[in-house]
Amino acid sequence: MRVRHHTNPFQCLQKYGPIDWEQVFGEPTTSLDLEIGVGRGVFIRNYAKRYPDRKIVGIEVRKILAETLDTLIQSPEYQNIRMYYGNGVTFLQDSIQMPILDRVFVFHPDPWPKASHHKRRVIQPAFLESVSEKMNPGGRLYFSTDNAGLWNDTDEILRNSKYFEAVVGDPFWEEDYTSHWHQFSVRDGRNVRFSAWQKINLTEDK
Ligand SMILES: C[S@@+](CC[C@H](N)C(=O)[O-])C[C@H]1O[C@@H](n2cnc3c(N)ncnc32)[C@H](O)[C@@H]1O
Repeated sequence: MRVRHHTNPFQCLQKYGPIDWEQVFGEPTTSLDLEIGVGRGVFIRNYAKRYPDRKIVGIEVRKILAETLDTLIQSPEYQNIRMYYGNGVTFLQDSIQMPILDRVFVFHPDPWPKASHHKRRVIQPAFLESVSEKMNPGGRLYFSTDNAGLWNDTDEILRNSKYFEAVVGDPFWEEDYTSHWHQFSVRDGRNVRFSAWQKINLTEDK
């Protein structure tokens, strides 16, 4: 049985200013992939090994998980990952210079089922505006969950967003997707839903 340890992201005091990604990666950097809520890092480590030329940033609000993963990735096979501890929503606003993101991953985010806690969820209208501003043209956002309530609410937010449009048939889900929580969902026979969303060109009206 899975136990969810929800950490209120607004109680996380860790803050970063703007980050110079060229300095972080030690070379010219015009493209980054970002995973928010990496958990134990099953996805990010697989993805990093599969795409050694992509630069991947992970952020996690539970300090113990962020630190454990940071230790695990200190090996040449993960030379393209950089790990941060903090709230991914504020990290995106404060530390990602625009536009640099090609892919943003949010897999099995905490559902925060009570209506009064929905503001703690990662994907919200203001988040989508922020992601879109910091994405390169053609950038994509990937979302998965096995929580029906979270799926319905998030799908509605995404469909109503003027910043993103749904992508049909993205091969990512077949070829690249894996996650620790996804493995639990499959084992427990839960229905996992996935969607991919592409940034809309800002000159277009919706
Ligand atoms: C249910 S787990 C899923 C972990 C992983 N994505 C997976 O699919 O296995 C959700 C993770 O997101 C983290 N998280 C929740 N809100 C966050 C936020 N605002 N910023 C960064 N991490 C967050 C939680 O601490 C937790 O580790």
